Amino acid sequence: MPLVTTTETGVPIQGPSATLIYDDWYPALRMDALRGGKLATAMLLGIPLVLGRRKDGRVFAMRDSCPHRGIPLSVGWFDGERVTCRYHGWEFEPCSGQCAVIPSLSSHDHLDATRIYATAYPCEERDGHAWVFIPSPGSGKLALGAQPAVPELQKFGPRYRTAFLTADLPCNVDHGIIGLMDPAHGPFVHQAWWWRTRGSIREKTKKFEPIAEGFRMSAHAPSGNSAPYKLLGVYGQPVETTIDFVLPNRRTEIIRCGEKWFSSLTTVTPVTASTCRIDVVAAWNVFYRVPFVLPIAKFFGAKFVRQDQVTMIQQAEGLKHNPSLMLIDDADKPAKWYFALKQARLDGTGKHPMDGPVELHWRS
Ligand code: FES
Ligand SMILES: [Fe+2]
Repeated sequence: MPLVTTTETGVPIQGPSATLIYDDWYPALRMDALRGGKLATAMLLGIPLVLGRRKDGRVFAMRDSCPHRGIPLSVGWFDGERVTCRYHGWEFEPCSGQCAVIPSLSSHDHLDATRIYATAYPCEERDGHAWVFIPSPGSGKLALGAQPAVPELQKFGPRYRTAFLTADLPCNVDHGIIGLMDPAHGPFVHQAWWWRTRGSIREKTKKFEPIAEGFRMSAHAPSGNSAPYKLLGVYGQPVETTIDFVLPNRRTEIIRCGEKWFSSLTTVTPVTASTCRIDVVAAWNVFYRVPFVLPIAKFFGAKFVRQDQVTMIQQAEGLKHNPSLMLIDDADKPAKWYFALKQARLDGTGKHPMDGPVELHWRS
C-alpha cells in the first residue's frame, strides 16, 4: 500500500512541461495491484496502460485502448490468458497484443484476426514493481529482449528487509529529478530533530566522478550531522555511502558498514509531460533482528518523502506563471549535469558533461 499517494488538493497542477526520454524502462505500478488476476491501469509518459499478470505468471502492459474503436481494454474482461474487449468482444493475448478472436466474423469474412495487434509493451517485474519499456512514438513493434536490462535494486546478501514509498508530484519530471539531487534543500525542507537542523549546516566537500549516462558521488563517510547515519555508526566500523544518478531518472544510494548494508533505488517517472511520481524501493540488513524497525523506517521514510512532496506542490504553484529560474554553482551543479546528460541522450551525441572527477563544495 502506498503511504503517500496524491497531491494535497487531488487536482494536478499544470506547469511547463518537460521533454520526455523514450526507449527506457519506467516503473508503472506495484505488483499488489495485479493480485487475484485483476487488471490495473497506469499512466506513463502520457500513455494510458492496462497491466495484468497471466495465469503462467508473466506480467503484461498494453495501451489501454482497443485497436478496434478505442474503448479502454481495462473495462473489459481478463480470464488469466486473454483480455476481452467489452465493446465487441475481440480477444487479445496480452503479452504480444495479438488478436485471437473477432466474434463478429462470419464464414463470408476473409479477415485474419491474428494479423491485428493491440499495442503491447515489454513488461517485467522487479522489486515489487511492474516495469514497462516505453519506445519512442512510432518505432513500430518491438522484439522482446532487445531492450537494456531492467533496473534493479542492488542487494548484498540473501537476507534483507524491504520497504516502498511513493508520492505524486505536480511538477514535470525535470523539477522532480533536480529536486531529488539537490543537496541544499535538506536543512530547510527536512528540518527535524531526527534528521538535521538549520543550526547544523556546515561546509561540505564531495567528490563526483562521471559514470555511463550519469555521475557518482564517490564513496564517502556520510554527513556526521544526521541522526540515522549516526545510528549506523553503532557497528563501530567505518560507514561508506555511494550515490549514483543515471539517466533517465534513477538515483541509487548504497550505504555499507562492514557486513551491514542499506540500498535504495529512487526513480522520478514522468506520468504526463507536466506531472511525475517519485518511487523509492529500499532493502537493508541493518538491524535485521530488531523488531519494529520496519514500521519505524517506513514512518520516517514517508515523512521525508512527504516533505519533498509538499515542497514540490508549493513550487508547482510558483512555476504555473513560468518564472525565469537559475542554477548556481556548486550546489546546483548536479542539476546542470543532469540537463547536459539528458540533452546528450536526446541528441544522440553521448557527450558527457564531466571530463573527470571533480570536487564540489556547498553548505548544507
Ligand atoms: S472496440 Fe474493442 S472490440 Fe470493438
Ligand atoms: Fe528531499
